[in-house]
Amino acid sequence: MSRDFFFQLGAWARWGWKAKSWRLTHPPHLFAWFEAVRRPMRQEDLESLRRAFERNSTPLTAPDAGAGSRVRGARTVGKVARTALKSARQAGRLARLAEAVGAERVLELGTCLGVTTAYIARTGAHVTTLEADPVLAAAARSGWERTGCAERIEGHVGTFAELLPNLMATWRAEGHPGFDLIFIDGHHHGPALREYVELLRPWLRRGDRPAALVCDDIRWSPSMWHAWETLSAEWTVAVDCGSSGWLVEGSRLTPFRRAVRLR
Ligand SMILES: C[S@@+](CC[C@H](N)C(=O)[O-])C[C@H]1O[C@@H](n2cnc3c(N)ncnc32)[C@H](O)[C@@H]1O
Repeated sequence: MSRDFFFQLGAWARWGWKAKSWRLTHPPHLFAWFEAVRRPMRQEDLESLRRAFERNSTPLTAPDAGAGSRVRGARTVGKVARTALKSARQAGRLARLAEAVGAERVLELGTCLGVTTAYIARTGAHVTTLEADPVLAAAARSGWERTGCAERIEGHVGTFAELLPNLMATWRAEGHPGFDLIFIDGHHHGPALREYVELLRPWLRRGDRPAALVCDDIRWSPSMWHAWETLSAEWTVAVDCGSSGWLVEGSRLTPFRRAVRLR
């Protein structure tokens, strides 16, 4: 077993020890968000799509663009669907968070097969999503078309480092109002996470209504955990939900830095 496996075991045990119930939250907007995500959205047609991906044996040809895949042997769409996709519950929770935030525009780093992307698009938000692997991106696109989600999703193929500078130049030129929700779920390497957060923070919508930046897999490795600890000290509101961490931006925030149990 890898060192990261033992790290994850210890990190989860520490979280279980210190996490407090969501019911003990005072800032009203956070309380409302927690209440919303406790009842994850579930979309049966998207779950059928997930099952179809799990049976798909198409091989992936491009090397992993992130922190290295933990999938053993040859990578196929099916293996990736079984190991890298967020579960129905996680995707459904993120969709509820998008609703609670009142999200009109969402940015996702790490489309993979686009099941979570489709869940978020089902809330009515427009989702911009980035994926390096062309086979995964093509499979995701065909899934969005089959499930009627494609018109609210803008998929870009390339690495985050290649795509973000050009996208940001376009957003600047178009006077983009910023994203209500940003979901970073790819390239699970601590220094990379910190760079993406720094780069994307100015693209969170400003104003009275708080906006959220969700960092996924914060207990993936020591470097991811170290990045999260650093980030959470820098933001006024940083919620450690276990597998993901939420950083919140807004004009009138009450400081809140805590591990929260959503059940
Ligand atoms: C954990 S999966 C994303 C899961 C998906 N967001 C979900 O909710 O099911 C991470 C994805 O990010 C992609 N990825 C990793 N590093 C990347 C990078 N530097 N640039 C673009 N895509 C990257 C991988 O190819 C992979 O498909």
